[in-house]
Amino acid sequence: MKEITKYRNNRILCIGAGYVGGPTMAVIAEKCSDCIVTVVDINKERIDEWNSDKLPIYEPGLDEIVKKVRGKNLFFSTDVENGILDNDIIFVAVNTPTKTFGKGAGMAANLQYWEIIARQLRDVADKPKIIVEKSTLPVKTAEAMERVLNDKDKFEILSNPEFLAEGTAVNDLHYPDRVLIGSRETKNGLEARKVIVDIYANWVPSEKIITTNTFSSELSKLVANGFLAQRVSSINSISAVCEATEADISEIASAIGSDSRIGSKFLNSSIGFGGSCFKKDILNLVYICKSYGLHEVADYWESVIKINEYQQNRFVANILNSMFNTIAGRKICIFGAAFKANTDDTRESPSINIAKMLIEEKAKLVISDPKALKNIEFDLKHYKSKIDYINDPYEAALESHAIAILTEWDLYKNLDYQKIFETMIKPAFIFDGRNILDHKKLFKIGFNVFPIGKKAMLHYN
Ligand SMILES: NC(=O)c1ccc[n+]([C@@H]2O[C@H](COP(=O)([O-])OP(=O)(O)OC[C@H]3O[C@@H](n4cnc5c(N)ncnc54)[C@H](O)[C@@H]3O)[C@@H](O)[C@H]2O)c1
Repeated sequence: MKEITKYRNNRILCIGAGYVGGPTMAVIAEKCSDCIVTVVDINKERIDEWNSDKLPIYEPGLDEIVKKVRGKNLFFSTDVENGILDNDIIFVAVNTPTKTFGKGAGMAANLQYWEIIARQLRDVADKPKIIVEKSTLPVKTAEAMERVLNDKDKFEILSNPEFLAEGTAVNDLHYPDRVLIGSRETKNGLEARKVIVDIYANWVPSEKIITTNTFSSELSKLVANGFLAQRVSSINSISAVCEATEADISEIASAIGSDSRIGSKFLNSSIGFGGSCFKKDILNLVYICKSYGLHEVADYWESVIKINEYQQNRFVANILNSMFNTIAGRKICIFGAAFKANTDDTRESPSINIAKMLIEEKAKLVISDPKALKNIEFDLKHYKSKIDYINDPYEAALESHAIAILTEWDLYKNLDYQKIFETMIKPAFIFDGRNILDHKKLFKIGFNVFPIGKKAMLHYN
């Protein structure tokens, strides 16, 4: 890559080595072999893990890429300051959780990590830098950060939100539906925009690189997550209607999904969405709407979260009702702790809430998961004495009264349920919170089967 701007465009820094910073930079290093990519983080343990054989996050295909480029043109370090000095293109992928204190608590995004970095950039940077918002941020954050940086000639802030989904991050980064880059539409803004476009142009077709103004880019990310979550809540709301009327949610999903205006993706009914983003980003959108006095719009988006909570409450109520209104002292085995398959991430996982509700009913819990046990154990550390964590699903289900499928891991589709049934206390129950199992087969084995949005199959009346 030739030096054609005031920025050294063959060096890239990313601040924040998490689920976004790590995989995104690994793929940039893989695809831009003439660039040196450095990822920095204040969390030393995380950086040590990125430099080890056991990466800090589980993501299919990521190990191979990191092994290929680490030490060649991808580096992980805790030296944020030198990172800033050595690089002019700086992606910032730090966490932006929901604020838990003060104004906007429980809704607004907590921008304290971003602000710390803006101050550090202001104090350390010695020449012009492009600062790229990779984190998901409220609309107009770039403008607010400009005020902190206080030097429009030195810093150009761009928005380049990340649309990867955990579990498929590598594929999403290799073949993105689109890359969105927002900038100011000034001479400097457009120059910086071109530098970032050129990085992605190494592997992303030009028609998939969308450029907008900064505000549209920032808001698009919140809206994309809002729309995805809203689809999940829409189908889940109908699953409740199905259970009341003997309609079948899979038949409905297929009937409506074949309408090309609706499309078939994201129509699986389940215990609802989780993950660090959907709820946080919708709450953020709700907060923004409220702060502009758009209360009806805020209420509309807030209802997406309410339906998600309702769906989890309904799932637990269903367990309770069908197990004769008491689960106290009965062993319930949870299959799946991760918020979705193919990740070890448990942030906002429905498993956390459902486990807590079952414990309130005094059930004895066993949680099993192929990748996420360490994380869920941390999330539920206050319930230590009430939960066993067992990796092997057969061992976990031993002498249990019921199994609840909470993550759609392929592993759970292919277990020997006859063998499991034989080791369980009868009557044995299975609550398929992801609708991934062969319900007729399970019923034939002897289970009482409770899918979502479909008629339950019972051996008793
Ligand atoms: N996880 C996803 O699937 C996903 C997808 C798209 C967008 N996002 C957004 O990307 C952002 C990051 O998400 P994540 O899941 O990677 O978070 P994460 O918590 O996994 O990683 C953030 C990292 O930033 C580091 N950090 C915080 N302050 C720092 C500082 N001052 N200097 C250096 N490092 C610092 C933390 O130590 C942490 O390792 C969030 O805004 C999120 O909403 C996440």
